[in-house]
Amino acid sequence: MAVAEKRLPEPASVMEKLVSLAKRRGFFFQSSEIYGGLQGFWDFGPLGVTLRNNIKRAWWRSMVELRDDVVGVESSLIMNPKTWVASGHVQNFTDPLVECKKCHQRFRADHVKGTRHEEDGGEFTEPRQFNLMFRTFVGPTEDSSSQAYLRPETAQGMFVNFTNVLSSTRMRPPFGIAQIGKAFRNEITPGNSIFRLREFELMELEYFVPPAEEMKWLEYWKDERLRWHLGLGIRREKLRLRPHGKHELAHYAVGAFDVEYEFPFGWSELEGVAARGEYDLRAHQEASGRDLTYFDDLKRERYLPHVVEPALGVDRSMLTVMIDAYAEEEVRGEQRVVLRFDPVVAPIQVAVLPLSRKEPLVAEAKRIEHELRPYFRTEYDDTQSIGKRYRRQDEIGTPFAVTVDFDSIEDRAVTIRSRDEMTQVRLPIADLRRELEDRLHPSHKG
Ligand code: GAP
Repeated sequence: MAVAEKRLPEPASVMEKLVSLAKRRGFFFQSSEIYGGLQGFWDFGPLGVTLRNNIKRAWWRSMVELRDDVVGVESSLIMNPKTWVASGHVQNFTDPLVECKKCHQRFRADHVKGTRHEEDGGEFTEPRQFNLMFRTFVGPTEDSSSQAYLRPETAQGMFVNFTNVLSSTRMRPPFGIAQIGKAFRNEITPGNSIFRLREFELMELEYFVPPAEEMKWLEYWKDERLRWHLGLGIRREKLRLRPHGKHELAHYAVGAFDVEYEFPFGWSELEGVAARGEYDLRAHQEASGRDLTYFDDLKRERYLPHVVEPALGVDRSMLTVMIDAYAEEEVRGEQRVVLRFDPVVAPIQVAVLPLSRKEPLVAEAKRIEHELRPYFRTEYDDTQSIGKRYRRQDEIGTPFAVTVDFDSIEDRAVTIRSRDEMTQVRLPIADLRRELEDRLHPSHKG
């Protein structure tokens, strides 16, 4: 049914509109906003935290629970600082920084054009390397012996636990260790709302393989990760895989791909998939003096496994999901904003709305909502006119609204309104749960 005329918003304004929607509807807010915020830090509201949980759950389900070759861990955010010396982060985890000699603002050297600050004409200093790790102190003394770092990635927590996992499970290469958790980077220029943050959340897999199989598994994981993003409902034409050139490889990588998304500000990295070779296990073996090799008792071979690592930011995945779902449409002369979330990630899957705030509609609608609640993410709403409530549900990306009207009390039937087609279908309350199951969990049908 052609009820909507699609209008594509200007790319530049999409970010602004999305940030405003995110605040208005409770997806994300600037951290400590009442004090003016803090650059690079964001808080997540009721819908935002649900959206993030859905993304994390989808990742954990696909990367850990549905696989017999991956196990999970949760390691501490602050680790023995020797970790970061061995991993190369103390030495190499830097970005080139320049400072404007006039206003003393600092920028990433690779983000500025020319030798002068566009705004005030001030000359830039020569670039110097700026380490991105946040420093802190452990215990009551504040000197170099107690200095530690907030982790800039979760990966090292998995490398240092390699033998703990090997000896406590029956895992044998090729196998993986997965982790979801916070990471911290003192980015020189955080920005684009939740695209580049100073505190963010990572979903990482370290997949340990026999050395000869590394490139095969890099191929495997880049395809697998692209597929996962498609499974969240991201449009295929907005995603691409980009191999890294030799010059841009991170200090640990021997080969890498970015899964890129076409953001309103251009194609940018959504996820990194890197072949890290034996870099990390060798570094930790040498620095700790512990044997981190694996002995293959079938082949009678001892080796340091190589690692293939898909690493994705929860925040960046969330931003991508929201941007990709965002649409503005003209419906019968009125504008509607809609987030076309896939049901897998939609914070609310079913809204139950009494047509008016009168009894017995309210009681019946609440009863239906409570019945559906164990099976779907539901919400009851009886504020404002029904039209406004539909618009609100469209804007927060709820795929279906169930409307309870006066006839419902007599005929025991309700109306399901679809967010995308805006069609309305009447059906018996007794069939509601099964109908919603079919519409929301099509994977159950194969
Ligand atoms: N252990 C490998 C690693 O951390 P990375 O390419 O630096 O690799 C992986 O980061 C992913 O983490 C990125 O593709 C992106 O999704 C996310 N990410 C990295 N830095 C981020 C930041 N400052 N803010 C938000 N997300 C970030």
